[in-house]
Amino acid sequence: MRYLVISCSLNPKSRSRILAQIAHKHLTVKNLAADFIDLAELNLPMCDAGACYSHPGVVALTPRIADARGIIIATAIYNYDVNAAAKNLIELTGDAWEEKVVGFVCAAGGHGSYMSVMPFANSLMLDYRCVIVPRFVYAPRADINDKTFGDAAINERTEELAVELIRVTDALHPASTPLL
Ligand SMILES: Cc1cc2nc3c(=O)[nH]c(=O)nc-3n(C[C@H](O)[C@H](O)[C@H](O)COP(=O)(O)O)c2cc1C
Repeated sequence: MRYLVISCSLNPKSRSRILAQIAHKHLTVKNLAADFIDLAELNLPMCDAGACYSHPGVVALTPRIADARGIIIATAIYNYDVNAAAKNLIELTGDAWEEKVVGFVCAAGGHGSYMSVMPFANSLMLDYRCVIVPRFVYAPRADINDKTFGDAAINERTEELAVELIRVTDALHPASTPLL
């Protein structure tokens, strides 16, 4: 599918998963083909640079990433970075990320880690020539039942990210052009 949303938190009560679902909704209501991957459902192995690449879960996942042109990564912020499952995903699926347009939605504990996805984004840019959408959705702590994340604008901001992802993806990867 042309678009893909990946929920990376392994927490059953994840808030970034809710953000991922909101982002996915904003793609599908525009009648765009958008896949959804929840890492909490996959039980992927840790990358060992060897046997992991033959794991059935990794073998099945890699083409779903390779097929997408625009990808939204929904991640928990852990220790001023994306969570380990998100980084492990890139380690497991490496070259499948070539030339993607990538946007981020993040759930965090506080406001101070706003820039913390940048080392991960740098790797996507420099290792895989991804283009990062310079509009992040960043939701600091709010009650899990608060679907606005304490911020009535979160839905609007997530839609803006989806629209920007589509705009950049269409510009860089016109529908008729195969991904290199
Ligand atoms: C191990 C761990 C490390 C964390 N580190 C940070 C951090 O560096 N900055 C921050 O703002 N929040 C941090 N948090 C809070 C999480 O970002 C917050 O709980 C968020 O909701 C996690 O996303 P999730 O709900 O999708 O799992 C940390 C939480 C845990 C469990």
